Amino acid sequence: MAERMKVLVTGGAGYIGSHTVVELVAAGFDVHVVDNFCNSERWILQRLATLCGREIPHTELNLLDEAALQACFAAVKPDAVIHFAALKAVGESVQQPLRYHRNNVGGTLALLQAMQDHGCQHLVFSSSATVYGNPESCPIREDAPLGATNPYGQTKLVMEHVIRDLLAAPGSLLRAAILRYFNPAGAHESGLIGELPRGVPNNLVPFVAQTAAGLRAEISVFGDDYPTRDGTGVRDYIHVVDLAQAHVAALRALRDGGDREITVNLGTGNGFSVLEVIEAFSRAVGRPIPHKRVARRPGDSAECWADPALAEKVLGWKASRGVDAMCADAWRWQQGLSDTPTAARR
Ligand code: NAD
Ligand code: UD1
Repeated sequence: MAERMKVLVTGGAGYIGSHTVVELVAAGFDVHVVDNFCNSERWILQRLATLCGREIPHTELNLLDEAALQACFAAVKPDAVIHFAALKAVGESVQQPLRYHRNNVGGTLALLQAMQDHGCQHLVFSSSATVYGNPESCPIREDAPLGATNPYGQTKLVMEHVIRDLLAAPGSLLRAAILRYFNPAGAHESGLIGELPRGVPNNLVPFVAQTAAGLRAEISVFGDDYPTRDGTGVRDYIHVVDLAQAHVAALRALRDGGDREITVNLGTGNGFSVLEVIEAFSRAVGRPIPHKRVARRPGDSAECWADPALAEKVLGWKASRGVDAMCADAWRWQQGLSDTPTAARR
């Protein structure tokens, strides 16, 4: 294998992918981005060039276009793949299950085939805490029961199974890290890259950011009668740069030997309630942010937070940024968004 690893990053223009590209380049990896920009913007590549101090080579393609994907592998000859590209909106997946299965599962099958055909042995895969369904208890360990409560979650479970089947196949040389993210939030501290939700954000932190910016009137707090310390839902929010750095650690762990399969939670091990997140964001902004309490959102669980011990043991990684940094960075990014070509469109 090349001394300097070449990493193909699918979905590299997206939220988590773009932050990971920055960390990969800083760590000395060669990076090639693949994206069809179905949920991201081409100008992110210019921001990446600014942050990385060099152009980031990329190929615009849909993973479902197998001929284009095979040609890309033949040209780039990657040693490793980090696979972010997927559709991720839970509600939309309920409305359009076939589209979600086709894009997420179909795209992953095409990618794994190309990896096999071109002798690419290292895979880091974006999974999600959604594979734990409605968790029975917290903190959640990797051996907790699995289940999905929506088609998006099903696609993650199916993709995990496909990767494990490939790992178990006779003669397989694949080495794979399956990373189960808890609640990614925040942005790069430069304010140059961050999350770009389309339409009304479903997730809490971007909704809070848009409310702080005056784009939304007030936050709806979904449920205040959960059995948690203040009655609102508790989640494990992880700073996107910590998450990005975990991908670098995972690549190194795969490259440097040890287990052929790694499956780990990526979280902080700390839960924050909805009200605590709103308070932290208010501190970052320097004023209160309007919110009201409404009914629970169907399908939500009271709490969901990780036991991150295995990730620390296997990857030598743990999250270092707290919720205040997350809110300050998300706010910086949100404020800069009005200067981008995207502001009027999304
Ligand atoms: P994102 O939508 O910002 O990024 C995904 C990128 O993949 C986008 O740039 C999109 O254009 C691209 N893409 C999608 N389908 C494609 C296809 N068929 N061909 C080529 N490109 C395609 O999402 P994100 O938040 O960065 O999430 C990255 C990964 O992490 C996803 O697999 C997601 O399911 C997973 N994940 C995200 C979260 C979260 O809260 N953001 C939580 C858990 C897991
Ligand atoms: C959601 C998805 C999950 C996905 C994750 C990351 C659902 C049911 N689950 O998880 O599959 O992996 O996003 O993308 O959609 N909240 C409010 N008001 C809001 C928004 C959210 O009170 O306007 C609350 C929620 O009830 C929850 C917390 O904030 O308690 C976090 O919500 P969210 O950011 O949507 O993440 P999850 O529900 O954990």
